[in-house]
Amino acid sequence: MRSTSAAGASSQTLAAGFVHPVLRWASAPTGLPRSVDERATQPTTMRTMARQHSRPRWHYSPLQTWMNDPNGLIHYAGTWHLFYQSNPSDDRWGNMSWGHATSPDLLTWTEHHVALWHTDSEEIFSGSCVFDATNSSALGTADWPPLVAIYTANYRPGSERHGTQAQCLAYSLDGGSHWTNYSGNPVLDRGSANFRDPKVFRHGDAWVMVAVEAEDQQVMIYRSTNLVDWTYCSTFGPAHAAAGVWECPDLFELPVAGHDETRWVLLVNVNPGGVAGGSGCQYFVGDFDGHTFTPDRVIATSTDRDLGLDDPLLRSYDWFDYGRDCYAVVSFADAPAGRRIVLGWMNNWDYAADVPLTGGRSIMTIPRELDLVLLDDGYRVRQRPVRELPVDALQHHALAAGDRVVINGVALEYHNGVLSLDRRGVGMNDFHEAFGSRQWAEVPGEPETVHVNVLVDTCSIEVFAAGGLVTISDLVFF
Ligand code: FRU
Repeated sequence: MRSTSAAGASSQTLAAGFVHPVLRWASAPTGLPRSVDERATQPTTMRTMARQHSRPRWHYSPLQTWMNDPNGLIHYAGTWHLFYQSNPSDDRWGNMSWGHATSPDLLTWTEHHVALWHTDSEEIFSGSCVFDATNSSALGTADWPPLVAIYTANYRPGSERHGTQAQCLAYSLDGGSHWTNYSGNPVLDRGSANFRDPKVFRHGDAWVMVAVEAEDQQVMIYRSTNLVDWTYCSTFGPAHAAAGVWECPDLFELPVAGHDETRWVLLVNVNPGGVAGGSGCQYFVGDFDGHTFTPDRVIATSTDRDLGLDDPLLRSYDWFDYGRDCYAVVSFADAPAGRRIVLGWMNNWDYAADVPLTGGRSIMTIPRELDLVLLDDGYRVRQRPVRELPVDALQHHALAAGDRVVINGVALEYHNGVLSLDRRGVGMNDFHEAFGSRQWAEVPGEPETVHVNVLVDTCSIEVFAAGGLVTISDLVFF
């Protein structure tokens, strides 16, 4: 373990006059040295099964390979970086590594060579990235600070740690193109088989990590001054939806619309046990003092895997999205102007391996911008597609009670204060028995008319209802 090496300054801003190499790269993203790493993205065992769907227009999707969770989301030197769980040699889960794509606008993405490769002794599971502007980690220099990735090593039989998961670092000195593993890895090892998905963020003059003990349905909170030495702070959970593993947590502060106030939001992805079946994302609103997260409300926890999807207890939790396909939701670090932007993996572990996508298997959700709205019964997360999305990409519909609108075969219905989306029988849906489904959500306040903005892309539909207080996101192979 390395000891703290303070670079002096406590602010996360670059020194005046500093010109980081990423600026050159960001201005010419297509000039990336794709050939430097000979193991770049060419798949070696790609399946040849006929697949019938072309790539989406607005959503990120890898060209050829398997993708699950978004990882290491960060805005850096004018560029949005999306790393993601990737199998570089197949379109099914395995050999987990970090794929990489960048975008100037969150909508047009350039896929790059694999950023972090699996080895015989470890797979690179989910995690996050930070810009260590003060070089607190000493992995760069004060004048040349690093981007640092904090990821989970899932140890393979080739490792003496086989069967466990621990948190590791890698760093990049060229703005995210090339990465070096930290020689003192792992930096946080509990000897646990299911300790994963570190999300690290700056809090005051320290770093905070939230990660999960997945099988215990717990979010573990740690603190560090240098990203290398971590001190345990507290544990949150199990709470609310706890029938499946807890994965990919995130913790951030959000403004409350119309109020001079902020609250903290803890996202916890759960699989299975989501509100629409299988993978889902729940959230908690509360306080965070730098060490402990305290939720505003805690009701009974459910560990019952057989709880029906209409069960009032399941429905009483706060769900980020009410569709089948919005999982592993995490936010970008360092988004400009205080924006809090998230991406989810637009898929569900119930059938992810079988979805009939052309080329890469899986897409991300549309990036969404978040804030909070104070309702009579507490705070609620509001989501809107990022403002970079052209307004005319969205369809608008107003549904009065009893109304039904059919969009490319998908039925949207508003009845008794409940908005539902039915994709049964639409397009290709028989590739998996769990795919055909109808999802629903109560609309807060049960308005007489609910306004919905709908984004239909090549193989997906995302519904933003009641100003973004309710979202329903589904894959649909029209
Ligand atoms: C969530 C997840 C993470 C893990 C990764 C492995 O979908 O299971 O917990 O880090 O996927 O690919």
